[in-house]
Amino acid sequence: MVSDTIGAGRLLRASALELSDDRFLKAALLAEFQSSFGPAGGSARVFAAPARINLIGEHIDYNGGQVFPVALDKCLYLAIRQRADDVIVIRNLQLPGEYRRSLAEAGASDADTGFALYIDGMLAGLRAAGATIDHGFEALLFSTVPMGAGVSSSAALELCFGVALSSLYNFTIDRLELVKLAQKAEHDFVGVQCGIMDQFAVAFGRRGQAMLLDTASLVYQYVPLELGDFCIVLMNSNFPRALAGSKYNERRAECDKALALLRPALAVNKLCAIRPEQFDRQAGLLVDPVLLRRARHCVYENERVRRSVEALRAGDLVRFGELMKQSHLSLRDDYEVTSPALDALFDAASGHEACLGARMTGAGFGGCVIALVKRADYNEFSARVGQAYTALTGLVADFYMSAAGDGARELA
Ligand code: GLA
Repeated sequence: MVSDTIGAGRLLRASALELSDDRFLKAALLAEFQSSFGPAGGSARVFAAPARINLIGEHIDYNGGQVFPVALDKCLYLAIRQRADDVIVIRNLQLPGEYRRSLAEAGASDADTGFALYIDGMLAGLRAAGATIDHGFEALLFSTVPMGAGVSSSAALELCFGVALSSLYNFTIDRLELVKLAQKAEHDFVGVQCGIMDQFAVAFGRRGQAMLLDTASLVYQYVPLELGDFCIVLMNSNFPRALAGSKYNERRAECDKALALLRPALAVNKLCAIRPEQFDRQAGLLVDPVLLRRARHCVYENERVRRSVEALRAGDLVRFGELMKQSHLSLRDDYEVTSPALDALFDAASGHEACLGARMTGAGFGGCVIALVKRADYNEFSARVGQAYTALTGLVADFYMSAAGDGARELA
């Protein structure tokens, strides 16, 4: 048995290979849990929820657009068990301190910030949906997701707790309801008026597959992520995403304004219901150049998603790479959610001969850029792009070869 050979402290020294093995992760996290909380209280259960990237279709999930995310094989892991009293204790193996509240306090304190807001939001949402959480719990977190990098570690946290708590407290909830509840936690507790893409991808991700999600109808289909000799490289700019929350809400409000101006002429209730040729005919209604640019991004980005899926299905990676580049330029010039660091990483990656296309992924401002790169050139690509990026910005980027993994789940 793996667990007999793994003691506390081992997880923080694990190799990349070990960290890609669920059996190792479960055994090692349980050993850490026992050493942190002690054996009294019985054994814990282990849950996982992945990070996500978005291949294309950025900032249109709140405009009724189609998006094309992938759940990654990097996950947030949670060992958890109920307590006999009404106290909640959550520790993170990689961070000092702990979250400690009574059940009555959780969500009631205005002083809560950061991590605590997500927990409060999920607890409040589950209770509002009818869950009876009448005992406290203790939990230990460990993550292989780059945190705060724009790959939705927040949705991973929400869904990991969502799946774990509903199971621990025998609360049956439809997965789509859990997704909506997590999105609401983000709106009401964290204050970001996000779309539904992240929570959806984290909940419904499937190994080896990307997901084409129509955010107007919530109908989705899996599309095999078959890239032949190529792979998706995830590059973390390590540029802080400080503006992400406030600017995000600002963009959303700008889209609503643009829609209100276009609606009388076009009779649509979402920006992405407008086809590019229709938009071009009515664009004069948007006198404010900022609103014009925001709406143009949404309409054309939605069209790029359609073409990207077509290109991938036809195995036309050159075309897909070209659409990725167009998406980045639109996010830079029309939607204005990139940053000098993201643009530098995009430029450095796009200039490399092994790269067919690159673009920022997620909310933007900081965070990550993805690139479609010849697999055999991954090491050389990372080294050269990394050097060029540091020369341009003084920052050091992290590189990961990404793979599509499964959605939120309990580890067997
Ligand atoms: C964040 C939000 C998503 C989506 C992306 C941008 O990740 O949580 O809903 O809007 O930004 O595409």
